[in-house]
Amino acid sequence: MKRALIFLGDLHCGSTVGLAHPQGVMHDDGAWIYPSKVQLYLWEKYQEFCRDAAELAEGRKTHIFLMGDLVDGDHHRTHQLVSNDQGLHVQIASDVLMDGVMQIPHESVHAVRGTPSHVGKAAGLEAAVMARLSREGLDTIVKDEEGRMVHPFVYADFEGTLIDARHHGRQGQREHTRGSYSKLYALDVYLSHHLEGRRPPQISVRGHLHKAMDSGPDHRGITRTIQLPCFQLHTEWTRRISIETMPDIGGCVILLDDGKPTVEFLLYKPEPNSQRIWRPDD
Ligand SMILES: [Fe+2]
Ligand SMILES: [Fe+2]
Repeated sequence: MKRALIFLGDLHCGSTVGLAHPQGVMHDDGAWIYPSKVQLYLWEKYQEFCRDAAELAEGRKTHIFLMGDLVDGDHHRTHQLVSNDQGLHVQIASDVLMDGVMQIPHESVHAVRGTPSHVGKAAGLEAAVMARLSREGLDTIVKDEEGRMVHPFVYADFEGTLIDARHHGRQGQREHTRGSYSKLYALDVYLSHHLEGRRPPQISVRGHLHKAMDSGPDHRGITRTIQLPCFQLHTEWTRRISIETMPDIGGCVILLDDGKPTVEFLLYKPEPNSQRIWRPDD
């Protein structure tokens, strides 16, 4: 069986530096809010991602994983919101998903909860996004026994390959620790399952940190951990904690051929003007 698993998350719709739909949204008082230059840039990269993911998925049974932080929410008294009307964040997220990744032919959609300060208590804003997609006729959303469409975590078994998807994960914060820490984290994921008598996943996928990383295959069968890029540029806050580096923009596709995985990151480098250099006239 040939499958494609498409992973994307951290869209942060509603953030002034998050993903937005070019059609804009209408403020309650009738003013229209249109995307800025950087948001149009993100939309362009998102469309490229959708095209590239669709190409990889062609001829395969395809499954979409929404990895949390679909909306930015009214958080930490930030001024970097298109509006603090969170209903608009839900609307933007629904529009970008419906007119983007959901257009790729697929069998199932799995959504995991993002960070509460962004997506609300009990991921209420993400539940609203999924409810809206469902009302718009998307019938591929996987629900739990009680009908919930956004899950704390998802374990999915594809021909014996167990995938563990959740929003929060851990990563080294420095360039020289990022790669080695991902191997430590992979071992942690593997051992914590093993010690608690749970079946260790072959692959764990995490969002939240806005940086792509892959712990790589391990011949001993230790879990491979994948950390995802995002669709949000730096906010004042993230620029402060990630001083020299940019977030990674894009998503990830895992191709499974009878359970054998190939990991394809789809990354879109920030434009060169992110390094604007001043020179004297002389
Ligand atoms: Fe995030
Ligand atoms: Fe998050």
